[in-house]
Amino acid sequence: MMLTLDSIRKMKQEGLPIAALTCYDSSFAVLLEACGVDILLVGDSLGMVIQGRQSTLPVSMEEMVYHTKCVAQSSKSALIMADMPFGSYQENAEKAFANGARLLSSGAHMVKLEGALYDTVRFLSERGIPVCAHIGLMPQSVNIFGGYRVQGRNEADSRRLLGEASALEQAGASMLLLEAIPGELACEITESVSIPTIGIGAGKACSGQVLVLYDMLGIYPGKQAKFVKNYMKGAGSIEDAVRRYVDEVRRGVFPGPEHTF
Ligand code: KIV
Repeated sequence: MMLTLDSIRKMKQEGLPIAALTCYDSSFAVLLEACGVDILLVGDSLGMVIQGRQSTLPVSMEEMVYHTKCVAQSSKSALIMADMPFGSYQENAEKAFANGARLLSSGAHMVKLEGALYDTVRFLSERGIPVCAHIGLMPQSVNIFGGYRVQGRNEADSRRLLGEASALEQAGASMLLLEAIPGELACEITESVSIPTIGIGAGKACSGQVLVLYDMLGIYPGKQAKFVKNYMKGAGSIEDAVRRYVDEVRRGVFPGPEHTF
């Protein structure tokens, strides 16, 4: 069965946790779907895990289009979300629309962009491009944050994030991605909006979870973040590892307290 934004919304309403993973190529699209992954995120994390760069910042539109096409070529059932790379949407809503449209023509069903860019979210969603708004730790803002740090730790920041989540929903966002924020705050945000929230390092109360594929397979040579679980430990195959991830997300076993801020 082909998953649509509507089916993903229903999963939140029915309390069925959504399992998402990043995916950058055709072979993994087939494998992840066979294991029951609901959302394939063509993430700009490909800059780090595929290209060996230090951050996601150098990833280009051409590279995102290429990887989105690779994933879409063999995907049959999952919802494909593609990241808008740094510089492709921040300048103005018209440019964001042109680039978002390229990702949709390449096979994505929705785009993800970082930040509380209400006007851009509204512009895209009113013109047929569903948007997932990524808030909390935003890797494209690493130079502003001064590192990959947990966000929303103090009262003012957590109030701001709660306000952003609700304003993004009002602006037309179809989904929120919450990265590296305390589990309690992610729970409050998830309860305060009707759209699904997908967490990475945001605790188990989100409507769904996502991990970078190469992190959960334990093949990324960088330092492992607290919120990552290596599912290859004790697994007989990649398929076995991914099936365990999906099962643990569905049962609310992952993320555990040890993966939560
Ligand atoms: O690009 C990516 O992998 C992401 C993660 C935070 C899931 O956006």
